[in-house]
Amino acid sequence: MKQGFPLFVLVVSALVLVKCKSWDWGESSPLGKVVHPNDNQDDTAKVALGESLFFDTRLSLDETVSCASCHKPGLAFTDGKAVSDGILGRKTARNSPSILNAAYLTSVMYDGELKNLEMQAIVPIQDHNEMGMEMGALIERLRKVPEYQEAARRIFKRDFDPWVLSRSIAAYERTLISDDSDFDLFYYGKKTHKLSKKQQRGWKLFSEKLKCTQCHALPYFTNFKVENNGYTPADAEDKGRFRIHGDSSDIGKFKVPSLRNVDYTGPYMHDGKFETLEEVIDFYAAGGRNVLNQSPLIKPFKITQKEKEELVSFLESLTGNWYK
Ligand code: HEC
Ligand code: HEC
Repeated sequence: MKQGFPLFVLVVSALVLVKCKSWDWGESSPLGKVVHPNDNQDDTAKVALGESLFFDTRLSLDETVSCASCHKPGLAFTDGKAVSDGILGRKTARNSPSILNAAYLTSVMYDGELKNLEMQAIVPIQDHNEMGMEMGALIERLRKVPEYQEAARRIFKRDFDPWVLSRSIAAYERTLISDDSDFDLFYYGKKTHKLSKKQQRGWKLFSEKLKCTQCHALPYFTNFKVENNGYTPADAEDKGRFRIHGDSSDIGKFKVPSLRNVDYTGPYMHDGKFETLEEVIDFYAAGGRNVLNQSPLIKPFKITQKEKEELVSFLESLTGNWYK
């Protein structure tokens, strides 16, 4: 018995350590409950199928690219590149966004033009530069994979088809939640968790002095709107949401990205031209580039080197424990 005691302590502390690694809010996540569409209710087997598809390179023409090639789990589901590498050495037009918390998006893509994740899932597959796959050929290919065909019959009571593909990938994406950053524990966890003094000063700068929260609003760190933050000149090749409706008031407007896990989502902006958060802050401090349609919320401000470091340190506190 004498020897049993330390072992018991060891096991208990190991359990506590494991539990502390990530935070479970239970029913009360600061992000609220994930709403599943009526025609795509949550289901464990469906999520598992979606996860396999997400990591499967057979979804692309030459079987080299999967969703995870551009949305890598270890990089908050981005890829660390300015623009991404698709099939056959082709490049995407834009920077790959994080899909953590995509479950909460009210519109999908930088232009905010797609209604839901189900509709989005089939876009990269058929995109010439991304996965370059023709849907008919893809379904034929995936029906020949016994696990996929069997799962489709079992879960959806139908043969593997675009419906099965898009529903299961979207169901998997809705499980990718990030709500346990140091900031979350500090701000929503009844202050039982401490942010460093530096990070707290950064949070005050962000929310009170610079009012970045007007667009990067809590709890998602985005207001989900399409805004012009002064980054994109009217003569840029990529004019943002303008390409959807050809409405000149949309020139330079892009969906406000969440800043959760921003330490891992660089390089920054839709074209990935800023390498560091310091560069982003310098850009905002200059009052943007004074472009057509620039939001009146983007105005020049003075910021010291010390404050800049505080702001970056706060932004780093938005990193969650999504990595498994
Ligand atoms: C070759 C790289 C690449 C591949 C492969 C890829 N994506 Fe993306 N993804 C991107 C880029 C770039 C964007 C931004 C496009 C835009 O908004 O115009 C994006 C956007 C998204 C978004 C929208 C996020 C938001 O905040 O609006 C979701 C969701 C998404 N991808 C999921 C997927 C899924 C699911 C797959 C696989 C079926 C996939 N992606 C394959 C690069 C890629
Ligand atoms: C008028 C709304 C608005 C305000 C105010 C605003 N932003 Fe943004 N922010 C955006 C938009 C829109 C983008 C994406 C632009 C693009 O991709 O071209 C963005 C992008 C960013 C990015 C890059 C994120 C990424 O993953 O690429 C960071 C970091 C950022 N903003 C930080 C801030 C900070 C810090 C402040 C306050 C000083 C601030 N923003 C104020 C709208 C805003």
